[in-house]
Amino acid sequence: MSAPQSNDLGPDLAKGISADDVPDGHILLGHVGQDPVLLARRGGDFFAIGAACTHYGGPLAQGLMVGDTVRCPWHHACFSLRTGEALRAPALSPVATWAVEPRDGMVFVRNRKELPRPKSGLGGAAAAGSVEKIVIVGGGAAGFAAAEKLRREQWQGSIVMLSDDDAAPVDRPNLSKDYLAGSAPEDWIPLRPDSYYAENGIDLRRKASVAAIDVQARQVALGNGDKIPYDRLLLATGAEPVRLTIPGAELPHVQVLRSLADCRAIIALAAAAHRVVVLGASFIGLEVAAALRARQLEVHVVAPEKRPMERILGPQMGDFVRALHEEHGVIFHLEESAKAIDGKQVILSTGKTLAADIVVAGIGVRPRTQLAEAAGIALDRGVLVDTYLRTSVPEIFAAGDIARWPDPHTGDNIRVEHWVVAERQGQTAALNMLEHRERFATVPFFWSQHYDVPINYVGHAEKWDEIAIEGDIAAKDCLLRYRQAGRTLAVASIYRDLESLRAELAMEQEVS
Ligand SMILES: Cc1cc2nc3c(=O)[nH]c(=O)nc-3n(C[C@H](O)[C@H](O)[C@H](O)COP(=O)(O)OP(=O)(O)OC[C@H]3O[C@@H](n4cnc5c(N)ncnc54)[C@H](O)[C@@H]3O)c2cc1C
Ligand code: FES
Repeated sequence: MSAPQSNDLGPDLAKGISADDVPDGHILLGHVGQDPVLLARRGGDFFAIGAACTHYGGPLAQGLMVGDTVRCPWHHACFSLRTGEALRAPALSPVATWAVEPRDGMVFVRNRKELPRPKSGLGGAAAAGSVEKIVIVGGGAAGFAAAEKLRREQWQGSIVMLSDDDAAPVDRPNLSKDYLAGSAPEDWIPLRPDSYYAENGIDLRRKASVAAIDVQARQVALGNGDKIPYDRLLLATGAEPVRLTIPGAELPHVQVLRSLADCRAIIALAAAAHRVVVLGASFIGLEVAAALRARQLEVHVVAPEKRPMERILGPQMGDFVRALHEEHGVIFHLEESAKAIDGKQVILSTGKTLAADIVVAGIGVRPRTQLAEAAGIALDRGVLVDTYLRTSVPEIFAAGDIARWPDPHTGDNIRVEHWVVAERQGQTAALNMLEHRERFATVPFFWSQHYDVPINYVGHAEKWDEIAIEGDIAAKDCLLRYRQAGRTLAVASIYRDLESLRAELAMEQEVS
């Protein structure tokens, strides 16, 4: 039987479709009323959930079904088909679910169910046990995801989140993309509305800079002298931009981009600017270049390397990224660096000068490990953690940009600066602070966006001996495999989302 169609939303699932139209292990896009709904089948079980990812609305019907879950094609969030729960970041909110009735060879999607309720059981016991007070240092990706997870698991103990930022946790990746370009509304930026924290018993203290950790007394000291005791502490202090040290670096039109305040400062300068010089041709620098081109500014990019992003993505993708930006009017000054900023002139190492109303330095970040170091916690180019994200001090965990963890995929201790990894580490650390024993074995994932071109990357390859290219990079339809001794360590792709998800799954299965 063929399914009744209704414009591009697919069949009307309330009217029912043939069970044969949804083979085992497949997903299908349909609708119920005005709601796009994804229908999935696993053996004899059928599931119906909202078809739009709660992160950025990615089309889940174009994602990958794995067991009784579905993964989003855009940034690899994962949802339970049974409950709608967001099982993996970057999505944190559930999708809706509908009741499904299979009858006489047909499948009917019936009433919409209540949103999944937080789990019960875990928290009550833990709060009554040895862990009653959790302090999180950092209000970024990892810190927020940890607090959210603790409450989602219905843990009842006290959570104090200390952030030296004046903003509540924000969607940091957007600060170099749509928000900077002027195309994202203000309400996309906070990860949750301000009311969320009080409603969920999260004592978020902004502009609260932690000055020291007293490991013996199990308390942290704030810059203002306040002391806050903990049973478990999560360090999620992230990374800070490397600052320029050349003459003129302190001028007011010379900026970095990490916080919402940084972003707003660049936007304010952009209002009266004509020319921008971006120092650095890696992800942040080039995303800033793209965003400021959208504001019609003249953008020059100065960087010492021969090709942008070559160290991470290889020469072929590097050439493509350069050509893409040049098509959009960006002017590169590669194999050059800035030696001084003299008023509105940037003086390059070759003596060339570039006029600049704004200079944005995107020359890298360094993990904020000073607190951990002063507390005597073991470091190794970051805070060293075990597979449970525990530091060398048993009550203290670390997650996000600061954490160097034993990666089962490469066999090395690695540290990355990826949004999704930071959030997932925050979630795993949250569980482990409550005495779970969950290993952090996630395959690293990041994305980057340049104009209309998203680049997705799964895995981790610091070096490789071969890049196998499938498809056509210039046509923006490609998948690159970074291999070492025949083994695929990482995969970068443009508009090959399903293959990227499959590559991630294959890497997971290698170590499971
Ligand atoms: C502009 C921009 C765009 C990005 N885009 C992408 C992207 O597209 N894809 C991707 O994968 N990654 C992206 N990233 C990287 C990603 O944002 C980081 O990997 C992620 O934010 C790391 O999370 P974190 O929690 O470790 O650190 P952060 O999010 O930086 O949070 C750290 C927090 O700790 C606070 N803090 C630090 N020290 C103290 C202290 N002593 N006391 C109190 N508070 C303290 C800071 O104020 C901050 O709130 C981007 C980063 C930036 C800056
Ligand atoms: S839109 Fe689904 S993970 Fe981002």
